[in-house]
Amino acid sequence: MHRTEDPVGRDTPRIDGPRKVTGLAQYTSDFRFPGMLYAVPVEATISNGKLLKLDTTVAEKMPGVRAILHRANIGRIFRSTFGPGFEGVCNERRPPFEDDVIRYYGQYIALAVADTFEAAKAAADAVRATYAREKPNVETHLEADDDPEIVLTTYGPVERLQSQRGNVEQALASAPIKLDQTYVTPAETHKPLEVHATTAIWEGLNLTLYESSQGVVNLRGVLAQMFGLPKENVRVITQFVGSGFGSKLWPWTQCPLAAAAARQLGKPVKLVLSRKMMFHAVGHRPLTQQRVRLGATRDGKLVSLQHDYVYHTSMLDPYHEDCGEATAFQYSVPNLRVTFGRAKRNVGAGADMRGPGRVPGLYATESAMNELADQLKIDPVKLRILNEPKIDESKGIPFSSRHLVECFELGAQKFGWSRRSPAVGSMKRDGLTLGWGMAGCSWIAARFPAAASVQLRDDGTARVATATQDIGTGTYTILAQLVSQKTGVPLEKIEVALGDTALPEGPVSGGSMATGSVVPAVFAAADSAISSLLTVAATTPGSPFENRKPDDLAFQNGRIIVKGDGTAEGEPFADLLRRANLRLVSGSGKSEATFGNPKPKFSTQSFGCHFVEVTWQPEIARLRVSRVVTVMDAGRIINPLAGRNQIVGGVVMGIGMALLEHTTYDPQNGAPINSNLADYIVAVNADTPPIEVHFLDYPDKEINELGARGIGEIGLAGVAPAITAAVHHATGVRVRELPVKIEDLLTPT
Ligand code: MOS
Repeated sequence: MHRTEDPVGRDTPRIDGPRKVTGLAQYTSDFRFPGMLYAVPVEATISNGKLLKLDTTVAEKMPGVRAILHRANIGRIFRSTFGPGFEGVCNERRPPFEDDVIRYYGQYIALAVADTFEAAKAAADAVRATYAREKPNVETHLEADDDPEIVLTTYGPVERLQSQRGNVEQALASAPIKLDQTYVTPAETHKPLEVHATTAIWEGLNLTLYESSQGVVNLRGVLAQMFGLPKENVRVITQFVGSGFGSKLWPWTQCPLAAAAARQLGKPVKLVLSRKMMFHAVGHRPLTQQRVRLGATRDGKLVSLQHDYVYHTSMLDPYHEDCGEATAFQYSVPNLRVTFGRAKRNVGAGADMRGPGRVPGLYATESAMNELADQLKIDPVKLRILNEPKIDESKGIPFSSRHLVECFELGAQKFGWSRRSPAVGSMKRDGLTLGWGMAGCSWIAARFPAAASVQLRDDGTARVATATQDIGTGTYTILAQLVSQKTGVPLEKIEVALGDTALPEGPVSGGSMATGSVVPAVFAAADSAISSLLTVAATTPGSPFENRKPDDLAFQNGRIIVKGDGTAEGEPFADLLRRANLRLVSGSGKSEATFGNPKPKFSTQSFGCHFVEVTWQPEIARLRVSRVVTVMDAGRIINPLAGRNQIVGGVVMGIGMALLEHTTYDPQNGAPINSNLADYIVAVNADTPPIEVHFLDYPDKEINELGARGIGEIGLAGVAPAITAAVHHATGVRVRELPVKIEDLLTPT
């Protein structure tokens, strides 16, 4: 399975795998501390109104109960605000218990703290609340609220007229072929295996948080603000994350609740959410409603594209589901307009969910492209190639590296697309009707700022440290591969430290940008450690290099050699360090951010496509995804084994998005009605067909010297529209509201 001699580019099993399968890996809720107490939140059972009264008398007297905390007795919790970079990001700004207004179902109204989890849960259940109820608004039809032209979002102010060129009205009016359709994606809720958890410990004015987090550095900054502390006083530790899919990118209100309880009671406090609570106050992908209007010539050239979308938000928080992110550059089109609006609902704050914005956005625009292809009777692959842009037309700048046409061609070839007969229901196999569909996709590539340190030690080992996280995607392994690549130290001799704000500040595990961000920092840190080593070599008495200048020396495969002295063996760095009585040399390095650069020279994106086969049995209304071929143009792949794993995971999630996932809010009380894993259905192994993943290998040197872009999210983008196109091909039913339901297919249109 080794593809190269180099550690980078080689299929590499997770270095943390043995710790996970033997149970040695400690997730947030695995940590125990002397005297630790357990906290269970009390949730509002209305979604709109006012909390009039809390009766805690019974709960307080229950055995093992230490406190029932609420607005009147929890102590001060401040708000947080934006800081520089990604220091102050938070999806729900209102601190818990700040006022008595209930704005969504499951909002925390009290916190039971007890000696055991069971006692805390019983006490939480015994708290009685009296409300003034108002009718909740969880209406799924969205009309945009009357918002100003520039709105504040989680990441800052954004213009609602997102992109514009040419004249769409005129172009559409005179286009010989027109399409005007609205696509709907439901609210979806993140379902990481590991639920959100916090353990908070105070020592004087120092707060330590064990938290399941995709971004420890930002979380430290937000929590420092919420408790009025210098951020040096807060430490956040996240050694392992049982995934997050975006729900753990930014802090949620259970975290300050645990910290406030620990402050009040002077003991460590652990708070672990239930699966049901995971549907309420830790984010979801908002419901979107997207109108797409296309104008084209009879031979399939796009002349006009309008994408107007609306999504729901919570009452207070401006999370922006950026469905238009890719619209303005995915295809070449002279006339274009992208706008958005928002509709407030009595739901918890929205949040990034794997492929935020672009995934639902591409579902709409790629679906429209597939419908246009059918309308024109042009092959959907050909239609896309016909509209391939030469540059990023939204910014008028070149792409750093775009090989989408090659993705389409390779995908078509591997899938056998040329054998497709386009008529609905015309393809059969083993008594089943086949449907074939495809779609393209893209995802942003950029770097967050990052710092790292690397040590080379006298026992021949190395250590790399950066305060990023491994959310199950393979960051531990990638960091070790990077160090091994630079130093020649084998993987098993490399210690990786991450997930701790005591380490050099690392990036969030988000936007599929962690890997791309850490490459320059780790390489620079390794170079700086090596340069110290060469100085040691040249200055240590008795060293074989004693009278050389450091510049005459080089480091190769773990050894110091004299430059140009090709035959010499050199000396292993461990020997040199021992001779000098040094335990270690260390170096540090930084990556500069490219994300958010207002004047980029290149448009940096990953691209890809999916070809999907479904089987349809009309007799029993059974629909299955039976085969997927995916091609990704994602730059250099550092660990193809983990990379394929990410893409396959994305495709499986895409099957869920297309056919299964939706969060449904009860119109009577506003509760997510399917708030458990029996009723909120995700795709599992039994739903997963053979998935073939191919990577094009075009390094993108705009991102880092290896040319590695991100692959965490793009695998999900484009899957749903490929599936709905295949469903149409098999059944003749055009589903424009996800997920595809069996009842949709029983009544052909
Ligand atoms: Mo991803 S939604 O940036 O965790």
